[in-house]
Amino acid sequence: MSSVLLIGNGAREHAMAETLVRSATRPRLYAFMKANNPGISSLSQDILLGSYKDLKAITDFARSAKVDFALVGPEGPLNEGVVDALREAGIPAVGPTKDLARLETSKSFTRNLVEKYGIPGNPRYRVFTSPEGLEHFLAELDEIVIKPDGLTGGKGVLVQGDHFQTREEALAYCRQILEAHNSMIVEEKLEGEEFSLQCFCDGKTVVATPAVQDHKRRFVDDRGPNTGGMGSYSCEDHLLPFLTEQDVADGLAITRQVAEAISRETGSLYKGIMYGGFIVTKSGVKLLEYNARLGDPEAMNILPLMKSDFVELCRAIIDGTLDRFPICFEQKATVCKYIVPKGYGLPKNHPDASSTAARITVGDAGAARLYYSSVDQRPDGLYMSTSRAIGVVGIAATLAGAEAVAECAANAVKGPVDHRPDIGTATLIGRRINHMKRVRGQ
Ligand code: GLY
Repeated sequence: MSSVLLIGNGAREHAMAETLVRSATRPRLYAFMKANNPGISSLSQDILLGSYKDLKAITDFARSAKVDFALVGPEGPLNEGVVDALREAGIPAVGPTKDLARLETSKSFTRNLVEKYGIPGNPRYRVFTSPEGLEHFLAELDEIVIKPDGLTGGKGVLVQGDHFQTREEALAYCRQILEAHNSMIVEEKLEGEEFSLQCFCDGKTVVATPAVQDHKRRFVDDRGPNTGGMGSYSCEDHLLPFLTEQDVADGLAITRQVAEAISRETGSLYKGIMYGGFIVTKSGVKLLEYNARLGDPEAMNILPLMKSDFVELCRAIIDGTLDRFPICFEQKATVCKYIVPKGYGLPKNHPDASSTAARITVGDAGAARLYYSSVDQRPDGLYMSTSRAIGVVGIAATLAGAEAVAECAANAVKGPVDHRPDIGTATLIGRRINHMKRVRGQ
């Protein structure tokens, strides 16, 4: 019997908890959460609520529960150095140390690493710590992307055409960012279709999970503001309808080279998740960013399909034996749709933006899996906050089947809620395929 500490309280961590407890090792689960996720609580032996900055509370909880290892969900605790603190307390973890978590927390670290080690995938980019040379570089790019260096909760990236139109506006944004951040990156904007390739890494071996596509835009037809992700899908062949096997192999090859470069650069082995955000362009697969954690919602696509034992997989990451671990996923399609408050993603002054908790009810969700995110179980029912509430996941032999299961479950959630009915549909996917054909010049 093993004991595992899970850190995190979102739908991603609910899926992680579910996958851990179905291990043949029958682990006792302990959860450290910022807020009480009823889905995770119901699977846990014990929970502790607290701040991810409170490393002493986390390590004391891990020690008193006598856990064998910890698994870290979100990037916040990684950035606080939770893996370093646990290691000092003698507890191994799946997740990089604070230094190695720069893969996600410092965009300039990753871009410079990829360049230094001659790894393909970088767009044209430059890191700026002052406005010097900015105007000149902006003038060299056809279209521009601006990224503050550091964690921005997925909301810091500014894209030409979406957030600003002209070079003058770009320059003004850059100056503004440099007042608040020590550094920033300016990149060329890439045209293509994005995919997420979530990989497990023990420092030497990198193994991939099925490719997933997320939907960042708030509204149907990819309209409206960017969000943390409104839903995602994956296919039974573990590719995506617009992706070739070569595209996925290229993304994995980049990630393998980056894992090796990290160990050469820092002298330390990266043990945890390397989530590569890639885009297929007319000149091949390019790297958008890495995250040092599973994606949310993308974790909900891959974990329910995992046939391998998650506890044993975590042990293989910690022990450095991933090369001998048989990782295996069901050949099924998945569609995840996030149930969100109607006002989610809208500016605070928008008439539909709500700041109060609202009650929801969950009817018959059929065969779908439900993963709780920002919900609070009170004596009189389930309440949402202002953030994403529940991820509903359909799993079936085909994408159409998985979409039907997810859509049916999404409609069973009642209250002031919304979701994107188009995610996983043939219409939206057809548009992606056509877009990719145009980009590839076919
Ligand atoms: N779905 C995007 C992310 O987890 O960062």
